[in-house]
Amino acid sequence: MKIIDGKIFQTDETWNLSPAILKLLDRRLLNENSNPLYLLKQRIIGNISAVIFRGFKGIEHRYSPSVKMNLVLSDFDMFITSVCYYLRDVFLFARISQSSRKPSDTYYINESHCLRAHTSAHQHRLVQEGLNAFLVIGDVYRRDEVNRTHYPCFHQVEGVRLYSSDQLFNTVPGEELPLIENGIRTFSKQEKHSEDTTKVLEIQLKRTLESLCDALFGSKCEKRWVNAYFPFTHPSYELEVFYKGNWLEVLGCGIMEQQLLESAGVSDRVGWAFGIGLERIAMILYDIPDIRLFWSKDSGFLSQFDGKSPEDRMTYKAISVHPQVIFDMSFFLPSQIEFGDMTANVYDTIRSIGGDLIEQVTLTDEYTNKEGINSQTYRVVYRSHDRALMKEEVNIIHKKIEQKLAETYNIILR
Ligand code: DAH
Repeated sequence: MKIIDGKIFQTDETWNLSPAILKLLDRRLLNENSNPLYLLKQRIIGNISAVIFRGFKGIEHRYSPSVKMNLVLSDFDMFITSVCYYLRDVFLFARISQSSRKPSDTYYINESHCLRAHTSAHQHRLVQEGLNAFLVIGDVYRRDEVNRTHYPCFHQVEGVRLYSSDQLFNTVPGEELPLIENGIRTFSKQEKHSEDTTKVLEIQLKRTLESLCDALFGSKCEKRWVNAYFPFTHPSYELEVFYKGNWLEVLGCGIMEQQLLESAGVSDRVGWAFGIGLERIAMILYDIPDIRLFWSKDSGFLSQFDGKSPEDRMTYKAISVHPQVIFDMSFFLPSQIEFGDMTANVYDTIRSIGGDLIEQVTLTDEYTNKEGINSQTYRVVYRSHDRALMKEEVNIIHKKIEQKLAETYNIILR
């Protein structure tokens, strides 16, 4: 028996989760405010709600107990899933259940449950629940290569939008244009879709994702569409962006297999879907060189994103591999001096004496005592890029900073 994500599972011989994977399951990077993935998640949600599903009224959302958190916006539904597994047999669809289920690339809890390998795993259930437009955001797990851009857990955003005939073709009441036909499957369309259905869906899909891409990378970014194959969609595409001399794949998408919609009980709508890997985009946007950094608990990494807004443009500055040395400094301010007046002076003094050995300075406490005297405490994190610092040498620098502050600003060290 094993407890995964708070639920009890009977394991069997298919179990292949390593202790390292179990540790990853407990972390919730998408909910950590100072993680760049959290910022990117917010940015995509903001953009989707403003642009992509604009003017679209989704149906009322019904709460699903297996999804821990959901946000219902006025015109579409969004799930932020932290449930990390799904039922293996959720798809009745042979083509889908075959994909990405090999024990060599999937983490199995038991014969019928595995960690989800992509957020598309939730499409079927949510469509079945009656949702017409939604995002699913969550962690996904793959037994994959080990390198700078691959890690056993990463994060995806999945978007789905379904259309009735009048929504897709913008018809007036009484005017009927059929979405579905019994035709043949070709390179460019499914057997159940008319040429018009496929074409209009493709235009809507591509326009939507190009606008998301512009919002992320700027409208001047060079992009191109490439034909692709995915088990959930036909036709399928990838969008690539030209970045630092290379074409990079940023998302996969396509026209949803009508068979998937039908097996979820929907026969009068058609739709498109897309999936985006967050790490890949965040590495580009913030210039983060290694995927393992997203898991760092090092405050040298996290402090760079702390307090930033999703729209802030910033690039990550490499942190040192050497350990931090941390010292606090507490003092009384001279009377008449306000808290806010002192802070910038303290930052400047620390920076000018400590130079490049200063990694972070934070104001950790301030209070006014009974006599009305103001007091502050700062935490100074020292770290060198090229060697491990000794506590003794840092102490000398720290004392110099304190002295300088006392002389210049008449603070009284505590
Ligand atoms: N599931 C794909 C993956 O993990 C991404 C993807 C492609 C999602 C196309 C979709 C889609 O919804 O339509 O690589």
